[in-house]
Amino acid sequence: MSHGLASPELGECTRNPGYKDADGDGPAARDNISVSDSEEKRDSIGVKRLSDARDEYTQIKPYAGMPKEVLVLYSSKARYRVPREILFWLTVCCTLALVAVTIAVIALSPKCLSWWQASPVYQIYPRSFKDSDGDGVGDLKGIREKLDHFEYLNIKSIWISPFYRSPMKDFGYDVEDFRDIDPLFGTMKDFEDLLAAMHSKGLKLIMDFIPNHTSDLHRWFNLSRTRDPHYEDYYVWTDCKPDGPKPNNWVSIFGNSSWTYDEVRGQCYLHQFLKEQPDLNFRNPDVIKEMIDIIHFWLEKGVDGFRMDAVKHMLEAPHMRDEPQVDPNKPPLVTTEWDLHSDYTTSQVGLHDILREFRAQMDIYSQEPGRYRFMVTESYDYEEVYKTMMYYGSRLEKEGDFPFNFYLLDLPHNTSGVWAKHLVHLWMGNMPKGKWPNWVVGNHDRTRISSSAGRLYVRAINMLLLTLPGTATTYYGEEIGMENINVTASQIQDPAGKYNTSASRDPQRSPLQWNADTNAGFNEKTNLTWLPLHPDYETVNVEAQMKDDGSVLAQYRFLNTLRQSELPLNRGWFCYVHADANVFSYIRELDGLKRAFLIVVNFGKESAVTDLSSVRELPDELKVLMSTTIANDGKVFPKSRIQTEVGEGLVIQYSTNTRFNPNHPEECYISEKACYLETIDILYKC
Ligand code: GLC
Ligand code: MG
Repeated sequence: MSHGLASPELGECTRNPGYKDADGDGPAARDNISVSDSEEKRDSIGVKRLSDARDEYTQIKPYAGMPKEVLVLYSSKARYRVPREILFWLTVCCTLALVAVTIAVIALSPKCLSWWQASPVYQIYPRSFKDSDGDGVGDLKGIREKLDHFEYLNIKSIWISPFYRSPMKDFGYDVEDFRDIDPLFGTMKDFEDLLAAMHSKGLKLIMDFIPNHTSDLHRWFNLSRTRDPHYEDYYVWTDCKPDGPKPNNWVSIFGNSSWTYDEVRGQCYLHQFLKEQPDLNFRNPDVIKEMIDIIHFWLEKGVDGFRMDAVKHMLEAPHMRDEPQVDPNKPPLVTTEWDLHSDYTTSQVGLHDILREFRAQMDIYSQEPGRYRFMVTESYDYEEVYKTMMYYGSRLEKEGDFPFNFYLLDLPHNTSGVWAKHLVHLWMGNMPKGKWPNWVVGNHDRTRISSSAGRLYVRAINMLLLTLPGTATTYYGEEIGMENINVTASQIQDPAGKYNTSASRDPQRSPLQWNADTNAGFNEKTNLTWLPLHPDYETVNVEAQMKDDGSVLAQYRFLNTLRQSELPLNRGWFCYVHADANVFSYIRELDGLKRAFLIVVNFGKESAVTDLSSVRELPDELKVLMSTTIANDGKVFPKSRIQTEVGEGLVIQYSTNTRFNPNHPEECYISEKACYLETIDILYKC
């Protein structure tokens, strides 16, 4: 703007106190001049000509409280305008730069690990964890008393086997009411208190969900057998005679026919497990709706996820034909599941649609930040690994976060490095790209592998579990190396054991050994325990092992903490390096990060010296960060002679500028690639 553009109002601004001030009245005088003073001056001076105003204006200096018009004139002067414009453009540039940086950071950041990826899942079998009321059976209050155990272990995800109201024919896997707690375990209030206590400690609670069947005492079953019009088709019914042949050759997992005649209805109903566990009919949309309502019920209460039980059994072929016999030459009187190809009773078309619907319902509750609801499925598909992998869902449709990986349960069949690698590779080589692996080495249905493999391997098994990529599952007691108990025929509790003693699951369900006191601290009130304790509890217990740096427990804790604090272990590459009759060895590394880990585990029957000198990416000298034999911590081995004893595992931390994975892509796996930028300490997608 030029001064010549001054408007008639300019006259007013020339009559301002600032002008006087500039003439020498000083700032104090300026403060004293009021608006009415200036009005008077205007009256006395009168209106000046415009040209005079221009002259006077050039002498004006800025002052506080000057009227808008003066301000406008000053603001257009170069010495005010230029800095202002510079500031303006600087602000614009900074804002744009910030937006760009934010977008770039979001676009370049790899996904953060979710809670179910960051921590192992710890399985509590509630009957056996901690008994608070002295009846010999563990309960919800007992679990609440022991939450510090998880803080100590740095475990955040807890799966609790069923505690629904149940007649306990299959210890809770026979549910009488999906919306109630069995009095043996406590009350709904106890559950809510437990959940609140867990959440306040940052722990997540995963419930067991049992869609395949209910108890025969469930209200629905009673309504179904009396042919209530709404419930008539809630279960799988077919015609049969009370003493006549069974409708077909299908057998229960617990042995014998999976059909039982019901006198009330005069028909046979299907049960793929006990006869007290009738199978629900998932071809009836009302049944699906009921189960979804139950899922909502618990999600509303705040549970963090579900372990979906026995999912492959949910649908059966409607034609109900005989299943083909594994050995067609055998007489057709089969009594165990191993005699049949379960083509018509498991993994039927439509199963995944139902599970995906469950998943979709869970996702509704996953929107809130930090409230992701997790889903894991249980299905034993043995060699048919592709069937298991389907539970991961597809690229377009989400299903489980992962299906349980049971392959390591077979480790004891052939303790060797090659076998361990084979089992690991069954998963890694078949898992859909980008999915998250997981590992199970024990549960309430399987012999503790520390027992079947032998005590010697307990530590090595835990090391494998906690250094492989993906989520580890730890069955209660594995953190202290608990073993199976011996259960005599008269002590058998498990219905599966009543059909077939060798199939009894009691041995792996003994009470958790907390200390060396009476009842191992499991029950401090009476002398009852629902199953006998393992006689080794005086030495193998939580309290004793907390005091011993070389204990199974201390090593579990160390490995779990290391895993969660070290990027290569919690989300880095996993690369096979070596496998022989004794040793299985692999690398965990992350692109851009100098620190990497070499794991060497001896699963064999002899001590071994492993020569990794051909692995160029490894430094010549390797220092043991942790050995399962505490005396070997800190040992340094030349890479051509890494020594391990039977059952010994080593975690070796080393520093390198050369990563292994780029040179051996076919030996390496990563779920979601990420690189580390050392200079600014961030992870980015690469
Ligand atoms: C699952 C459970 C098992 C139970 C069965 C029937 O396999 O893990 O304990 O007996 O389902 O519900
Ligand atoms: Mg109790």
